[in-house]
Amino acid sequence: MNHHLSFDEWDDASAPERQQDTEFDAVMSRRYFLKGVAALGASAFVMTAGLSAKTAMAASKAGFQFKPIAVSTADTVQLPEGFTSQVVVRWGDPLTSTTPEFNHQTRGTASSQMTAAGDNNDGMDVFDVNGRTVLVINNEYTNRSVTFGNRETKLPETDDDVNKGKMAHGLTVVEIAEINGQWQVVKDSPYNRRVTPETAFDVVGPVRGSELIKTSADRAGTTIRGTFNNCGNGKTPWGTYLACEENFNGYFSSSEGEGFKQTDAQARYGIAKNGKDWGYKWAQTDDRFDVSKEPNEANRHGWVVEVDPSGQRRPVKLTALGRFKHENAELVIAETGQAVVYLGDDERGEFLYRFVSRDRYNPSGDNARLLHEGELFVAKFHDDGRGEWLSLNAAGMAPDETLVYARIAASKVGATTMDRPEWVAANPHKAEAYVALTNNKYRGVRESQPLNMANPREKNPYGHIVRWTPDQGNHAADRFTWDMYVMAGNPLVHSDLMAGSSNITAENMFNSPDGLKFDSAGNLWIQTDGNYSNEDGFAGMGNNQMLMGDPETGAIHRFLVGPRDCEITGLTWSLDRKTMFVGIQHPGERGNSHWPEGGDAVPRSAVIAIKRDDGGLIG
Ligand code: FEO
Ligand code: CA
Ligand code: CA
Repeated sequence: MNHHLSFDEWDDASAPERQQDTEFDAVMSRRYFLKGVAALGASAFVMTAGLSAKTAMAASKAGFQFKPIAVSTADTVQLPEGFTSQVVVRWGDPLTSTTPEFNHQTRGTASSQMTAAGDNNDGMDVFDVNGRTVLVINNEYTNRSVTFGNRETKLPETDDDVNKGKMAHGLTVVEIAEINGQWQVVKDSPYNRRVTPETAFDVVGPVRGSELIKTSADRAGTTIRGTFNNCGNGKTPWGTYLACEENFNGYFSSSEGEGFKQTDAQARYGIAKNGKDWGYKWAQTDDRFDVSKEPNEANRHGWVVEVDPSGQRRPVKLTALGRFKHENAELVIAETGQAVVYLGDDERGEFLYRFVSRDRYNPSGDNARLLHEGELFVAKFHDDGRGEWLSLNAAGMAPDETLVYARIAASKVGATTMDRPEWVAANPHKAEAYVALTNNKYRGVRESQPLNMANPREKNPYGHIVRWTPDQGNHAADRFTWDMYVMAGNPLVHSDLMAGSSNITAENMFNSPDGLKFDSAGNLWIQTDGNYSNEDGFAGMGNNQMLMGDPETGAIHRFLVGPRDCEITGLTWSLDRKTMFVGIQHPGERGNSHWPEGGDAVPRSAVIAIKRDDGGLIG
């Protein structure tokens, strides 16, 4: 097992190559195609004068300015002058006064991890629960070489190791308070808890009771134990938290080993190729994760879950939103009053989805069931800048199959293969939404993923952000107009399409956009999870970073650079909008960081708080 293999690399090796018909005309000449891309880029936005001037100050719509910062390869968090950050909560920090402090030798136990903050924080949001500030955080996965760095093999060895890793997954719900200007965990708060791979969820929506999700532990198919690999998130206007289950496939293995034969559906979802998991070994202590013993267990993961931050209501798995590798869940209330949830499926050549609720949002009523019933659609991007949402109901599959095997249904209806859809963000001031397409080394390489105008670069090492405006300004409408917000690239190294779109300069270069979120003032924040080698095609890009984008002018300015080997993911604001919370995930995944404590410390994922030194609004 290669410890430096990222989840994406492992997942990629486990995924099948497949055929897919698209509308893109394979005989269209490359020259003609590139001309089309250039035209699309030029019409996308008019650049503001002075955008590339090195001294330009960036103006946030929240009422502050900052001087964009340079790239960095230091093992620190870098911010513009006038801003200060502090660490709020790290992997292993105790949630109760009886939980031991993080132990840098052992890196914790299964027992300590159950009442401590989880690992690899990702999507998050802040809630006001009875006047308290409650932060709900996704804990996506563990870095084996860090979590099990105390073992010779850098892998879980004992059963307690396996269970420690397992309990580092799920969600951390933690009350925080600002004391003497510093955000701190409120230990022993009644709201502090972990939601883990052992927590019970009610199944709601069309898949409840389906044969496809019945197992020996749940013969009725109505209660699912556990959530894990929670990547991006969403927040509803009725005060609940949405957590998205992404690379769930990596936890399943087969006791048949190499002799295990995947079904077509297992192959499409990348489950247990050659009988292997990603090194977590959960089947060692839990038969649910042995697909030969419990073939339906994997169908019970890969959903969006809805969690009540107060802990009063039982959490649910929202099956109407489909099963795939969910990135985040961006919820908007459409003109019609229906809840629309935009959803990316993060894998090369997979799709962008949209859920539209059957019922309407009631601002003064109970919306607890609003995401239980509705219709799931998938995006088709036409090369002329128009697009449409195709209903998965047209795939001709049974209702439960359509949702459990949403990827297969989406292929049948002819969706556009995308360059790894990560977060979607909707502009709070305008009917438009943006999706980060992080990168795709197979674009234009595999026959199943030909170039198209919405994914126009061969091998796409840098990624891009596509945005769309629904017809009639209604997110529930079935057609939209789209354009390219930005194509990331390196203008120092390239002079063709790989240099990026015209709003990329030597001063704001980045690669692999991933997290996307609008602040309430209407700035688009872009977080990266990319190549941090700072070499070759990535020379001059430094560590992963966060930038502020202007949706009107297309101007993009670097605001934050993270420590070594990390990605920046997860973003939210305090209730008074004077603090911005940012996630620093997997510092030191390749062994080059001791952030945040420095010295010889074990690197730890953490949520940081950023404030303006003048105490003003920051989002
Ligand atoms: Fe968990 Fe696609 O990022
Ligand atoms: Ca991500
Ligand atoms: Ca990513």
